[in-house]
Amino acid sequence: MKRRKFIQLTGGTVLMGSTFPLILQSCKDDLDGMMRPRVAPRVEDGPFNVELPRLPSLPATNASLTAQHTTATVFKNKTSSVLSYHAGDLLGPTLRAHRGETVQVSFQNQLSEPSNIHWHGLITPAEMDGHPTDIAPAGGSLNYTFPIVQRAGTYWYHPHPDLLTAKQTYRGLAGFFIVSDNEEQAIGLPSGEFELPLVIQDKQADVAGDFPYNPSSIDLMNGMMGERILVNGIHSPLAEVLPRTYRLRVLNGSNARIYNIALSNSANFTIIGTDGGLLAAPETQQTILLAPGERVDLLVSFAGMAAGTELYLHSKAFPGSEYQGKQDFNVLKFKVISGQTDNFPIPALLDPPVVINESEATNTRFFDISNDGGHGGHGGHGGGSISHNINEKVYKHDRIDEVIDFGATEIWTFDNTNGVDPHPMHLHGALFQILDRTGGRAQVFPHEKGWKDTVLVMPGEKVRIIARFEQYKGIFVFHCHNLEHEDTGMMLQMEIK
Ligand code: C2O
Ligand code: CU
Ligand code: CU
Repeated sequence: MKRRKFIQLTGGTVLMGSTFPLILQSCKDDLDGMMRPRVAPRVEDGPFNVELPRLPSLPATNASLTAQHTTATVFKNKTSSVLSYHAGDLLGPTLRAHRGETVQVSFQNQLSEPSNIHWHGLITPAEMDGHPTDIAPAGGSLNYTFPIVQRAGTYWYHPHPDLLTAKQTYRGLAGFFIVSDNEEQAIGLPSGEFELPLVIQDKQADVAGDFPYNPSSIDLMNGMMGERILVNGIHSPLAEVLPRTYRLRVLNGSNARIYNIALSNSANFTIIGTDGGLLAAPETQQTILLAPGERVDLLVSFAGMAAGTELYLHSKAFPGSEYQGKQDFNVLKFKVISGQTDNFPIPALLDPPVVINESEATNTRFFDISNDGGHGGHGGHGGGSISHNINEKVYKHDRIDEVIDFGATEIWTFDNTNGVDPHPMHLHGALFQILDRTGGRAQVFPHEKGWKDTVLVMPGEKVRIIARFEQYKGIFVFHCHNLEHEDTGMMLQMEIK
């Protein structure tokens, strides 16, 4: 194991009126031991000439998923070796289920290391949740079965084995899990070919088109980011669309990169849903800052656009993070083709989520996620390997950090006031609602209303959430969904009992 040492120089950069530490790397035993600043890899976009693939759907009531080594055409004219739940593709199939149905998924692990499946955003019994220690060994298998007890929404699945979540997800293991219910169906939103689940990911690809997982110390600090942006497992795709309204279910399935999505014609998005399903009513917004693990459900209208019109799903530069957000880039090209149009009226009402009132809270908890620890941004554990923490604690599978009364309604504060990194905080075992954000962006955005399972806490921010732990008892984790932060310790355990 290489030992790497980090030094921190202060006084280099000024951000938001305060002296901001510029963190530099010094590698005693690396030949590339020159000082390198912490910056996100520069995205190289284009040429947007490969057709966006439609992800195949499978009923989750009877599915089989095999984690395997396979190859996929991720970059034009190249064959990448990947890990996947589906032979020949990067992404796994889109699982679909209706509220009230029972999920039955048999999982085979054909990797050479432990794996499992976590159903991100789905509330499942603890033993079905893909806890980091509930794993299938190499060559082993697991059966997942649980009822769908929640609202329609865009959820997803990915591996969650201890210390291997980031690597396995990055190499390709991920898929959508879409839940429907009667309330949503009654609204008559665009469906079939007019519903596009879109997962955005980024990779550091080599000339052969492979993206092995070899994070540098900087990658472990920032989280793994790449210069190639993929949508639905394809680099630089083109989606041909009819001049009508589409439902875009956008997932940030990246390990660490945050996207500030926008349309290149500056049109507003119509936001209809968030992590945990539909909003009470549509909201409009021009840009949406979407962190790893988060989803947003959108209506985008191409109606009235002439055939041949091109526009992009774009990521705009954004402030608030020292090492990412400095660059604008395109993600996906839409090209309008001639054909059937529509006159889809934006519904005035969607499906109002039950609101949890602050006055219902029976307990509060506080989590310092700033990772300042008195030693600067990172490490703080003797200058050896990189680690990240919550309340100065790193993940330990045999330690329960928080004991929660079954049925309790709790307010949790995630405090990143003194931090320098963005942290998308994610809970298993319960969905939550965001009460407020103070510092930094100082507001709750339209795509953060309703039910959430992941919330972005930027440097300088403090976010309060409220949740009811009323579905299942047992041991669940909560963590930062920057997967390198998670795997380097930024995860704790709660026991609901
Ligand atoms: Cu999507 Cu515990 O994670
Ligand atoms: Cu999760
Ligand atoms: Cu983090």
